[in-house]
Amino acid sequence: MEENFEKTLVLIKPDGVQRKLIGAIITRFESRGLQLLAIKMIQVSHEMAETHYKEHLGKNFYAGLVQYITAAPVIAMVWAGENAVEAVRQTVGKTNPLEAAPGSIRHDYALLTSRNLIHASDSPATAEREIALWFKPEELCDWSDPHYPWIFGKN
Ligand code: CMP
Repeated sequence: MEENFEKTLVLIKPDGVQRKLIGAIITRFESRGLQLLAIKMIQVSHEMAETHYKEHLGKNFYAGLVQYITAAPVIAMVWAGENAVEAVRQTVGKTNPLEAAPGSIRHDYALLTSRNLIHASDSPATAEREIALWFKPEELCDWSDPHYPWIFGKN
């Protein structure tokens, strides 16, 4: 019944929080039918930022990226649903907001890669690693969404 049910990590970055876009961003995922399993506000430490972005170590934007994500609180969330990793990334849009599809969050609310509002895991394997980094297992709520058959029903 639950084919390809996945969980994925989403961060509303400091610019999204400061610009008071938390509600607008959450509404995009809720309206699409995804299920929120965990949410918290965090002031990210340098150490946490370096662990989260370790694959970007050595890139020319790395220092600025760590500074950006630690500049003010973020909202960390776990969203779930069938093919949630791909669905969330589509709703988020491409890394460069100028290349993001109209209707995506980055297209509709951002203009620069260095202030692209939001992070989403790029694969199921990354999602597993990132969820474990940002949340303790007991912080995820296991609840059954009554809308599930109306969103994921197969004919
Ligand atoms: P995110 O999806 O969080 O993953 C890595 C982040 O690095 C990305 O979003 C951007 O915020 C940032 N990033 C990637 N490429 C660049 C770049 N060329 N210049 C500045 N920031 C970048």
